Amino acid sequence: MTSAPAPSEGAAGLGSGNRVPRHVAIIMDGNGRWAKQRGLPRAAGHRAGAEAVRRALQAAADHGVEVLTIYAFSSENWRRSSEEIADLTALMRFYLERELKTLEKEQVRLRLIGDHSAFGGELVERLEKAVERTASNDRLTLVIALSYGSRAEITAAARRLAAKAAVGEVDPDTIDEAAIGAELQTADLPELDLLIRTSGEVRLSNFLLWQAAYAELLFVDTLWPDFDEEAFSDALKVYAARERRFGGRGPAV
Ligand code: FPP
Repeated sequence: MTSAPAPSEGAAGLGSGNRVPRHVAIIMDGNGRWAKQRGLPRAAGHRAGAEAVRRALQAAADHGVEVLTIYAFSSENWRRSSEEIADLTALMRFYLERELKTLEKEQVRLRLIGDHSAFGGELVERLEKAVERTASNDRLTLVIALSYGSRAEITAAARRLAAKAAVGEVDPDTIDEAAIGAELQTADLPELDLLIRTSGEVRLSNFLLWQAAYAELLFVDTLWPDFDEEAFSDALKVYAARERRFGGRGPAV
């Protein structure tokens, strides 16, 4: 890695002198357990999870985070029951419709990574409309990972570079980390600084494997629907208190 991301000051919450991550990613886990604990169907957990997305987005904006990337649907999630997939799809459709105005008002830009085309026509249409409508917003970028898998993303990048090399567009000897990073779907986003996973599971589950190389990882026990503004703020405090070394000896400045 050639350069550490510049620390930025948050707009609110942590006060001056504290480091606010530019790019935060979240593996939103625990919706099912949250519902089970209450004797509710899994869909109720996902609905509560969607409300937690709104809170996290607001908290990220309030703290001055530039990019929030959320793992809404992994490529492995297609193995869930067709009923649960339909519930999740309907929920995302509903939220997109309801929240588009908020995204516009709050100057949030929507971006997608993964393969959103794998979803049905109406959701795809709404997603693309929302991406288009919010393209010039610049307060915060919300990246939704949909049908996303990190290995597939890296594989596609390798395939594209190989194709370029095959026609002589790229010299294989010049392929470096930056060249691979430039082929990833996150190419134009700031480096990932902080990756949070809720619900006590301690793994990355094929999410942003390349991008997380130097990120701070934070695993919290809170189930995603219970992850509120205070939990977000606490996560930023943990981040601010950690010394980031980027493989070197001293703290990054
Ligand atoms: C993991 O909980 C969560 C998901 C697979 C889906 C995440 C989706 C949302 C939070 C709602 C919709 C998103 C948007 C953008 C509006 P789990 O079901 O794996 O929980 P469990 O491990 O307790 O069963």
